[in-house]
Amino acid sequence: MEKIVAANWKMFKTREEARKTAMKLRDLLSRSVERRVLVFPPFTALPEVAQAFAGTVNMAAGGQNVYPAQEGAFTGEISPSMLRDAGALWVLTGHSERRQIMGESLDFVGRKTTFSLGQGLHVLLCIGESLVERDGGQLERVLSEQLRSALGDLPCTVNGNNFAIAYEPVWAIGTGKVATLPEILEAHALVRSLLLDILAETGRDIAILYGGSVKPDNASAIMALDNVDGLLVGGASLQAESFARIVTA
Ligand code: PGA
Repeated sequence: MEKIVAANWKMFKTREEARKTAMKLRDLLSRSVERRVLVFPPFTALPEVAQAFAGTVNMAAGGQNVYPAQEGAFTGEISPSMLRDAGALWVLTGHSERRQIMGESLDFVGRKTTFSLGQGLHVLLCIGESLVERDGGQLERVLSEQLRSALGDLPCTVNGNNFAIAYEPVWAIGTGKVATLPEILEAHALVRSLLLDILAETGRDIAILYGGSVKPDNASAIMALDNVDGLLVGGASLQAESFARIVTA
């Protein structure tokens, strides 16, 4: 399976900063065609990133958030067609910062995922357990619940091209505390078996990315693990050189 390496820029970068970083990434990575490169900038910088990647075969932009409606009185929100109009091919759903800080429920994440797929966006669904849940032996329950609530409604429209999962243990995001290789191996095997259970054979084609304090020096060991089909990178993706080293690891 082709590896996907994704950059989540979160609430960082002006349009000009985003344009410069994206142009540098294009120079460094547009020939690494064996890797699919996704960049999720803030909404304001989507057109800059999409333009920088235009004409490449392996690089695309995505939105960090979406609202599950075509249009309407939803102040501050953005629709799938607006994201596509701004140059996004992908969208993130279920990121733990949105589940925790913005209080997004399992049901809401599911609606965003379903609606976005129905509107032709590709979805990178983030799942992951907190430290309390892991320590309480809840890993399987949490991952199963997050996957089933997001996929329950329309599994048949999902395939290896329009959908991917990012497994991100909450305690490893932005903390510098990366999960150990055996922990990642175990969690990804679990996600794979859940995907097979929910989606039958299609579950084999869905890429499972690891995220949480990925850096240039740990990327290749993580990416070499079974069932790790790519990486989702936050902090270390803000600098083009650092992210490029992760992509080519
Ligand atoms: P991090 O963030 O790489 O800074 O830990 C990952 C993410 O939030 O997707």
